Amino acid sequence: MTSPTKLAPLPQPRYLPYLSGDFRLAMGLVALDLGLWIEPDEQFVPELREKDGLLVERHGEVVGCRQGSEAAQREVLDLLIAHMVRYYPDLLRDDGQSLTVPPTGAVYRRDDWHDAAIDLAGRLVQEDFCLMAPGEGGYTLEAASLCFPSRWRLAEKLGQPMSIIHDPVPGFGDKLARPVDRFFDHLGVDRPVWRVNWSLNDDPTLFQPVRRQDLDTDEAVTAANAGDRLFIRCERQTLRRLPSTGWILFTIKTYVDPIASLATRPDAAAGLASAVRQLPEGTRRYKNIAPYQQALLDYLDGLAAD
Ligand code: HEM
Repeated sequence: MTSPTKLAPLPQPRYLPYLSGDFRLAMGLVALDLGLWIEPDEQFVPELREKDGLLVERHGEVVGCRQGSEAAQREVLDLLIAHMVRYYPDLLRDDGQSLTVPPTGAVYRRDDWHDAAIDLAGRLVQEDFCLMAPGEGGYTLEAASLCFPSRWRLAEKLGQPMSIIHDPVPGFGDKLARPVDRFFDHLGVDRPVWRVNWSLNDDPTLFQPVRRQDLDTDEAVTAANAGDRLFIRCERQTLRRLPSTGWILFTIKTYVDPIASLATRPDAAAGLASAVRQLPEGTRRYKNIAPYQQALLDYLDGLAAD
């Protein structure tokens, strides 16, 4: 008689920003060691390939640049190349004219990307890049390579200041707009920072340009299957001021894990359940949790009790 096979536990998520169990709308910025600016992982090749597909099929949706951003884009590319060659020489080679990404075999001639440097930057690593320029009405989004948006459209935000960009985020205008503007004004070149954002989703797709606010309960998600049907999506975001142009670069590295990956972390399952229970109604709607909230909480409570 064969013994029943025990499934190996899933690797647990890299970041657990809900671990404390509190939900607070806060900047949550901490100092970034620049050596850890870019965070390649085992998804490097599949995610770069996924970006390549999006850049062929939906280029206008995932790359956007305003006139006048070319110098800052080139500054981003130069910083990225220097960083990758120094810290990840197996992932990027630079012979002065061409860049090679050995794990995918892609080769890029620097000259071909003179006026589209942020587009090339986005092809070299898993991160997305957003460039913000100082202006009279605050910092505005001037260029981006954004293959993995979390329910927003680049075209709607390009050229806009932070307050308009964040208009759909409940509480941002009251609680965060001013501190964020002040922080941007004072961000020093030698003081980069990072933060982590979390959201929930019933779809693990990385490219998600559509904002959803479903009203009906999704009967297909139950406490029994929520671990595999629902996903926790974390964005590791960095902010740094570029030394030459003085613009600000915002990077986003996206992690998507099935909720079942919390099985080995009952403390994190309890933290997420508690944070979800604390969400103000507007935020719950914004995060589109209502359709499966009960199934999610039943599942998480089960993990937390183990
Ligand atoms: C200190 C800096 C920042 C803070 C504290 C911040 C905070 C937030 C928060 C709390 C959310 C809601 C996320 C959720 O609940 O899922 C959000 C969404 C968003 N943030 Fe930021 N953010 C910052 C910087 C930026 C920058 C530089 C950009 C530039 C592109 C940006 C673009 C967005 C967008 C597009 C959304 C989605 C808005 C929508 O739903 O339409 N954020 N941000």
